[in-house]
Amino acid sequence: MFNRETYIARRKKLKEMISDGIILLPGNVDSPMNYADNTYYFRQDSSFLYFFGLDFQKLAAVIDTQSGEEILFGDDVDMEDIIWMGPQISLKEKAEKVGISKTGPYKGLKETIEKAISTGRKIHFLPPYRAENKLLLNELLGISVSKLKAYSSLELIKAIVALRSVKEDQEVAEIRKACAVGYQMHVAAMKMAQAGVWEQSIAGTIEGIANAGGGMVSFPVILSQNGETLHNHDHSKTLQNGRLLLVDAGAEVGSHYASDFTRTVPVGGKFSPKQREIYEIVLAANNRGRELTKPGSTYLSVHLAAAEVIASGLKAIGLMKGDVKEAVANGAHALFMPHGLGHMLGLDVHDMEDLGQIYVGYDDEIRPVNQFGTAYLRMGRKLRPGFVITNEPGIYFIPALIEKWKAEKINADFINFDRLESYLDFGGIRLEDDILVTETACEIIGDRIPVTPEEIEAVMG
Ligand code: GLY
Ligand code: MN
Repeated sequence: MFNRETYIARRKKLKEMISDGIILLPGNVDSPMNYADNTYYFRQDSSFLYFFGLDFQKLAAVIDTQSGEEILFGDDVDMEDIIWMGPQISLKEKAEKVGISKTGPYKGLKETIEKAISTGRKIHFLPPYRAENKLLLNELLGISVSKLKAYSSLELIKAIVALRSVKEDQEVAEIRKACAVGYQMHVAAMKMAQAGVWEQSIAGTIEGIANAGGGMVSFPVILSQNGETLHNHDHSKTLQNGRLLLVDAGAEVGSHYASDFTRTVPVGGKFSPKQREIYEIVLAANNRGRELTKPGSTYLSVHLAAAEVIASGLKAIGLMKGDVKEAVANGAHALFMPHGLGHMLGLDVHDMEDLGQIYVGYDDEIRPVNQFGTAYLRMGRKLRPGFVITNEPGIYFIPALIEKWKAEKINADFINFDRLESYLDFGGIRLEDDILVTETACEIIGDRIPVTPEEIEAVMG
């Protein structure tokens, strides 16, 4: 965790941004996997980590925006806990680490909230995503579980998005560590990508690298020769020469800052001319995206520019046709790239997605585009120094989607459907880097994972 002053300063800013009322921030609790004592790995809530830094189960905090009072609620361990878990630091010590002087037992939270409600104070809370916290808020606030999201505080959401979007130097340093672990994961995967190897053994190896890096994977590993399925978690196949292997994986380090990278490599280590042709287009789109990423530009415009690189590359090899700008304006490129160019990255791999993508990736100036493909863009708004985002263009040949568009003549003016027949077993290619928006431009965080065909063939050689 960072030093005490970091958390004090973050909470001070938050209090200044909220006009009135009580801010209620529950941390996460353990979640049972198959019985109560056999839990999933504990993952603290990211906004709780941002303001309180305490990576422990069953804590909750209340901040009074008027008096400035902050209370940390939790329970000290008893002898039975000590026997099974070892000695734990006390609630008071935890609170001191983050500059909070007032603590109370977990059950005291209810009394504090009830008192605030009875005196007419507004309670600001975030939309909960865990069942346990939905039930907690339901009990504390008397709001039915299905209505909690609707009653969550837009003022609090917007304030937290504003604070967490611009990364402090110390946060970037943590993301850099996560990127270094991600680098190792991807190079290990490349080296293992030989014919006869089971996909799951590569997935397991790189998950182990993430764990050994001090944390865990930042999301379940996506790894498959069927890379045309965007989030393919089926690792059951054995690698075959002539196929591509897409690996989308990242780490989160002990502080929970994340990385998120994708590389696509030829099984056996040598691209066929056909694979390389498509690969070079995706790489050009990735490089163009990075070149255009700078403060003041919108990521929507960067997304569309990368889409133009894809459309013009596919036109050059005869898979698309017509005017490139018109094709992109009509969403024709989305047959091949039915997703957005990237998303924010930080304490969450899709940073702050729990708070609502519309508030994280869009604002009054830039609104989401309601068109297949671009509608999936999670980050469209104007870029600012300190933003950390992913740059992840791709080209996929999704047989069911191609069949549908062909049958329904969707964007038929821009697509040579007949030429696509020989690509139906191609798979997909995505190339993803993590980038920091600087004062004048942007930089790839950490060493760039081998990405040119030459670099990849050299690593796999
Ligand atoms: N890495 C998975 C995603 O960005 O959706
Ligand atoms: Mn990503």
